[in-house]
Amino acid sequence: MTVALIPFTAAGPLSRQWFGVASSATLDDGPEAVRLLGNDLVLWRSPSGTVVVAPDKCTHSKRQLSKGTVDEGRLACPKHGWTFGDEGRCIFKPSGLPITDNAHLKTYPCTERYGLIWMALGDPEASVIDLPWDDDPRYRRIHSEVSAWAASPVHVIETILAKTDSEPVDVSAELPFSVHTRYRSDDGSEHRRLVTCAPVNSRASRVATVVWTTAPDADDAKVVEEVTSDLEEVRSVAESMAAPSPAVETAATPDENALSQDWKHRLSDLASSGT
Ligand code: FES
Repeated sequence: MTVALIPFTAAGPLSRQWFGVASSATLDDGPEAVRLLGNDLVLWRSPSGTVVVAPDKCTHSKRQLSKGTVDEGRLACPKHGWTFGDEGRCIFKPSGLPITDNAHLKTYPCTERYGLIWMALGDPEASVIDLPWDDDPRYRRIHSEVSAWAASPVHVIETILAKTDSEPVDVSAELPFSVHTRYRSDDGSEHRRLVTCAPVNSRASRVATVVWTTAPDADDAKVVEEVTSDLEEVRSVAESMAAPSPAVETAATPDENALSQDWKHRLSDLASSGT
């Protein structure tokens, strides 16, 4: 078993991974502040309809842009009103002074899938996790939610994997911090659940949950409750586990099941891949 420390910093291998950091639905209410691998970011939906992810600091004098307002896709800084549009470009200064290159925001790779906003801090080395049933007409996506947990993403995933021995039809873990679970209900319909973690740092995560079902007339709230009922306990266990900072060891323990050991092995390889 390879043992490695996975650094929870923007300079490490996690910078090249996609993370589901926010729900597409919540962005319609204005800018959102997100912290990923210790970096403070602002997300908003720009005039073209695409999401922009940028540092949460105005290029004028560093005021938090996430405290600003969005009007028809234009994000206005709360301090002096510099305004930013598509691709983070500064498009308005109330002073009327010229807009120079250094007024524009640096932006990060970003895309939307499964009702989530995915981003990477560096150049992603692969695509966002592929879940083909999202395009399968037999399935309906009925839930996409993101919440903040005071737990390392390593501990969230290992806790879920430790509990998945019997009930679901199948379970798979994807790097870096995603678990997909398939369930079959008594009436023959299938439900699928994705839990994916975006590391705030080594001790905290944004945990996204997405649920699909094939049941055409199901009570969606009931299905979601059914397939997420274990997450409260997962959260409680994961939040009680002390996470060292700023790196977490990826080694598996002998009492972990094969699924968890395999995921830890791959995570160790990722951690060893450097920057
Ligand atoms: S700090 Fe943002 S416009 Fe001045």
